[in-house]
Amino acid sequence: MTQRTKVAVFISGRGSNMEALVRAARAADCPFEIALVLANKPGAGGLATAAAAGIEPLCVDQRDFGKDRQAHERAIDAALRARGIQVIALAGYMRILTPFLVDAWAGRMLNIHPSLLPHYPGLDTHARALAAGDQEAGCTVHLVTAGVDEGPILGQARVPILPGDDEPAVALRVLAQEHRLYPETLATFCRGLEQGA
Ligand code: GAR
Repeated sequence: MTQRTKVAVFISGRGSNMEALVRAARAADCPFEIALVLANKPGAGGLATAAAAGIEPLCVDQRDFGKDRQAHERAIDAALRARGIQVIALAGYMRILTPFLVDAWAGRMLNIHPSLLPHYPGLDTHARALAAGDQEAGCTVHLVTAGVDEGPILGQARVPILPGDDEPAVALRVLAQEHRLYPETLATFCRGLEQGA
């Protein structure tokens, strides 16, 4: 079998999308393996989940670098290269990246965002969709470029917003789709890399 693409998943919190990617990678025909789970803060719950699943957890604590964001990213970049990582999957990584890391991994860094981009980049996406009276919500997997939540879209999933929905209800419905969309889109992306696309 061809070598699987080595993916690092970046998290800042519970890491349920990371878990979905780890589950998908267990399939014999999955084109990627999760080789590293990296967090920017030690409190990220997903680090323990990753360790329990037998995946290396690594915290590169942003507080160790003070205001020097690029030094933080240089440390991250070195850790990735030391492990032969080929693709980064941001999964609830809640720190805006500088052009240093974005450029270093251009075309090889994906993100999942809980809205139907280009609608609602940034935070509080579901609350904003509800406030606008939208009838649907969703999630997007896209390539990361310099603009926040702006890169080329690789996949989207839509869900209805139902009468009486509040923000947690929409978040839960969207999250279920995130867990389906991200593994599927990452697999397609990695197969494309294998074929030199
Ligand atoms: C997910 O809903 C993800 O789309 C969102 O954070 C959540 C992380 O949950 N990401 C962003 O808002 C990025 N802009 P998880 O830690 O359970 O995967």
